[in-house]
Amino acid sequence: MHLPGLAPIGIGCGEMIEPVVEVIPEPALQSRIGELGAQITADYEGKSPILVAVLHGALPFLADLSRAIRAELDIDFLALSRFGEGGRVRIAMDTLSSLEGRHVIIIEDIVDTGLTLNVLRRMIEMREVASLATATLIDKSSRRLVETPLEYRGFEIGDEFLLGYGMDWEGLFRNLPSIWAVLDLAAFAENPARLHGLALNRPGDSLNT
Ligand code: IMP
Repeated sequence: MHLPGLAPIGIGCGEMIEPVVEVIPEPALQSRIGELGAQITADYEGKSPILVAVLHGALPFLADLSRAIRAELDIDFLALSRFGEGGRVRIAMDTLSSLEGRHVIIIEDIVDTGLTLNVLRRMIEMREVASLATATLIDKSSRRLVETPLEYRGFEIGDEFLLGYGMDWEGLFRNLPSIWAVLDLAAFAENPARLHGLALNRPGDSLNT
């Protein structure tokens, strides 16, 4: 699904222009994830894939996508750390399961330059897996520096910095139920906590007392 443009949704506040806008509301997220789940269910009929989520950003996507896949499957996790220059990454925390002979689906929140995923795929391919695919919720394809296969993608978006639903800014905002784009980073950084108010305390929200 391609997002044509960034339309602010429901954050108008008089004359004030917010430095962040909601770009993918919860219903659109869940509906698209349902479609991806159906696609994966059909593609892996008779197989028992293992979903390998890249911590921490992929967690909400993993939780919803795994429940949208109607097949027997395993779940595992790994974490990466970056070092040096040029997007060099290493595995900081490995999967508990062996991936040898398994149908592996890497679960990513976002693919940007593609450098991380490219290295990760090569590391997993060396483990003699039966097959390898990637599912990413967001694809920033216009920023790609290295081509890497992407079998399942939720939304294509421009080069805006995104937050929420697993994606963070300085470790925060992963718990927002929808996805927001930062339009003005300097203005946003002046009062980042305001986004919690915008995103989590909406009229009609049952958590809002
Ligand atoms: P890549 O190696 O450039 O593809 O970067 C992938 C990683 O960069 C993702 O897994 C995220 O951790 C991070 N990243 C890239 N773009 C964003 C964004 O818009 N918001 C939050 N994190 C991002």
